[in-house]
Amino acid sequence: MIDFKKIHVKKSNSSHINSIYLISKSNIKNSWSIESFNDDFNNIFSEYFSLMYENKIIGFISIWVIIDEVTITNISIHNEYKGIGLSNYLMDYLINNYDNYTILLEVRESNKIAINLYKKFKFKEIGRRNNYYKFPSEDAIIMKKF
Ligand SMILES: CC(C)(COP(=O)(O)OP(=O)(O)OC[C@H]1O[C@@H](n2cnc3c(N)ncnc32)[C@H](O)[C@@H]1OP(=O)(O)O)[C@@H](O)C(=O)NCCC(=O)NCCS
Repeated sequence: MIDFKKIHVKKSNSSHINSIYLISKSNIKNSWSIESFNDDFNNIFSEYFSLMYENKIIGFISIWVIIDEVTITNISIHNEYKGIGLSNYLMDYLINNYDNYTILLEVRESNKIAINLYKKFKFKEIGRRNNYYKFPSEDAIIMKKF
């Protein structure tokens, strides 16, 4: 059992990207490559936040911030730490720090766990992109925080 008092969220730095990539790769079949993560990390619109347990990175959330709009581009929790409430730390952190922004995201329609998480934080479906995802082909649900 982990000690929740030792969990915190902090802005990621470039040395976190390899761990972030490994977490994403273990979770998502068509995860971004390490090059894509590095490019995105260096994009002026991107922000990355790491979920830390002691000195270990056990999850992350990444966003694009464009004017008054935030788009969640990724959220992922290390397999060993799933299902114990840790994604709430990342969502709370994001919502508290970007409370004056419109917050949007896209999610595979089959990703019921993520959809449940987003609904819990008052995201609602506002649209769809047909066959937006590949391998397998699937609709993207566009969600907005209300
Ligand atoms: C989605 C993800 C970030 C959730 O992280 P997590 O730390 O395991 O989730 P938590 O334990 O914090 O649970 C938060 C909420 O998610 C939902 N959830 C979590 N596990 C679930 C499960 N097995 N079944 C259904 N809903 C679930 C619930 O709404 C839960 O809230 P509740 O416990 O109050 O019911 C994690 O499953 C993950 O990394 N998935 C792979 C990457 C991914 O798909 N990211 C989303 C891309 S759009």
